Amino acid sequence: MPQILELIEDDHDLIRVLFNEIEHDPKSRDVRCITLHRELLAHLIAEEATLYLRLREVAPEEVEVSLDEHVTIRERLERFEVLPEGDEAWMEALADLRDWVEGHFAQEEDNIFAWARHYLSRSDLFALGRVFEKEKEAIA
Ligand SMILES: [Fe+2]
Repeated sequence: MPQILELIEDDHDLIRVLFNEIEHDPKSRDVRCITLHRELLAHLIAEEATLYLRLREVAPEEVEVSLDEHVTIRERLERFEVLPEGDEAWMEALADLRDWVEGHFAQEEDNIFAWARHYLSRSDLFALGRVFEKEKEAIA
């Protein structure tokens, strides 16, 4: 079982691939969108229940920034419930969601990961990895 930062990075990579596929392959867009929605939400929830909860005591401001970004990403995801798939407004909403998600991932991989590496032990990172996986399984 990998440690939590590797699992989070794997999720980020998968989500980036899904965005690429949705943008470039309209045929599989409907299925990919369902997968993106599920993966993204499960990722946010599992992160909040593990790494963010754990880092809150040592880096409250950084965790607060990340939690605010999660709120914005959830709001951006909700837009898709009312937009017709693939039209101009839909494509704009997708680009906007992607901007937020990419910015958030970059911030997390730089900032939150640095705090985690500094404050959490190796065994903590592995133990959190197990909980992260369990949280995601429970949501799926
Ligand atoms: Fe993340």
